[in-house]
Amino acid sequence: MKWVRVGGNDLVIANVDGKFYALHNWCTHEQGNLSKGELKKTVLICPEHGAQFDVTTGRVLLGPDGESADSIQPEKSYKVVVQGDDLMVGIP
Ligand code: FES
Repeated sequence: MKWVRVGGNDLVIANVDGKFYALHNWCTHEQGNLSKGELKKTVLICPEHGAQFDVTTGRVLLGPDGESADSIQPEKSYKVVVQGDDLMVGIP
């Protein structure tokens, strides 16, 4: 995973078996740096309190410290398109 700044937005780019996804980089719980977390297939785990997000959609799979998924907000998800050697991210 890699933390990038695009158009003033902090994003985490995740490479899942050659397919790229982008989420807002700061955890919706307490702003943990998701780019420093762990990626297991499509599950991004926050390094601070272990909240889990589906990196393909930003949906919360598990809340912080094992709480329910609806205890925090989902992450913003951005569309990623590969153009040659570049990644194009759709920022609304
Ligand atoms: S800051 Fe991410 S789970 Fe708490």
